Amino acid sequence: MRIAIVPGDGIGKEVVPAALPALRLLSDAFGLDITYDVLDWGADRWLADGTGLPDDALDRLPKEYAGVLLGALGDPRIPDMAHGREILLGLRTGLDLYVNHRPLHLEHGTIDLYRENTQGLYSQIGGSVGSRGRVSVAMDECVYTRDTVERFVRHCLDRLRAAGRRKVTLVHKANAVPHTGRLWQEVFRAELDRFPELTGAEEYVDAFCYHLVRDASGYEGVLASNLFGDIISDIGAALMGGLGLACSASVCPETGFALFEPVHGSAPDIAGRGIANPYATAMCLAMLLDHTGHADAAALLRNCVRHAARTGAATPDLGGTGTTVSFMSEVTALMEKRLTIEGPRQARRLPHEES
Ligand code: NAD
Ligand code: IPM
Ligand code: MN
Repeated sequence: MRIAIVPGDGIGKEVVPAALPALRLLSDAFGLDITYDVLDWGADRWLADGTGLPDDALDRLPKEYAGVLLGALGDPRIPDMAHGREILLGLRTGLDLYVNHRPLHLEHGTIDLYRENTQGLYSQIGGSVGSRGRVSVAMDECVYTRDTVERFVRHCLDRLRAAGRRKVTLVHKANAVPHTGRLWQEVFRAELDRFPELTGAEEYVDAFCYHLVRDASGYEGVLASNLFGDIISDIGAALMGGLGLACSASVCPETGFALFEPVHGSAPDIAGRGIANPYATAMCLAMLLDHTGHADAAALLRNCVRHAARTGAATPDLGGTGTTVSFMSEVTALMEKRLTIEGPRQARRLPHEES
């Protein structure tokens, strides 16, 4: 299995290299034969030669790799994030990675948040007019096609049913944004008829955010359009304990190709200090391992990351004294210990944790 690694910008260049030894260890221990190439896409390359997403990238990636691990994009030298849109949104739409799974691991359990990843307010349709460097009229269109909403909703309901979830909540804003809102409601209600195991609920996004923060225990599966899903995932990260914890997978169900990235950005406020939390990046690797059929390796990694994060080895955002690198060293040391004592077959489960 070959993986494309894009550290990107800011703390992406810290958390991704720090997490790679864990991948190597798991590849060796479980005989997975994982190799990877590190790609230099990001602000430095953009500023050096104007390349964001190389011309052949969308052709080559699915042919040569099982998936991409991306750290983060965003650099103060490129304030409009033009390179980030080209690379990140270019990968999501260009490879049709329309399902963005952003699980929220909370005290009461996991909420499976699914974000539509290709259209809505991210469709890049719009424009502006103005004069003398001042914008006077601006438009960003929120576009949804029925096909896109249908395939997204159907796939998410299928995943939720397979995961044994019973309730699914559609988040929308059909009172104020009626056209796309109605399309989502229509599709959601129609698709739910095919899934008698699932009970549907619908909530306005504002009230949903209120309820989520007050008491998240009422939610199991959540479906959201592109921008609402983006915002909800940062609120969810705060409920989990910080942006350093939240991972995501953007998947094209038809090809199986996937992009794994932490929910957080390049965090210029802490970049270069060696204290960024690599937890989310390591959890992205666990999602990648799960996605490629290596559930035992994924479970071992996940359990050791969770275990290390509860100790003083955690990074400062979690109240520990660890650094990006020392936290991942603790995780690999824990994994090595389990593998030595138990061997790869049993090592996935720590005695005090769920499998
Ligand atoms: P951010 O997510 O980078 O940071 C928000 C806050 O969370 C900051 O205080 C930061 O220090 C903290 N934080 C984030 N990740 C952390 C980690 N791993 N460990 C500890 N603390 C962490 O959001 P921002 O500051 O609004 O954005 C910075 C840049 O990143 C912008 O250019 C933005 O466009 C970009 N961005 C990129 C992605 C991506 O590539 N997927 C996602 C979000 C934002
Ligand atoms: C995310 C980010 C991106 C998004 C930005 C950087 C374009 O915030 O992945 O959550 O809005 O999707
Ligand atoms: Mn975001």
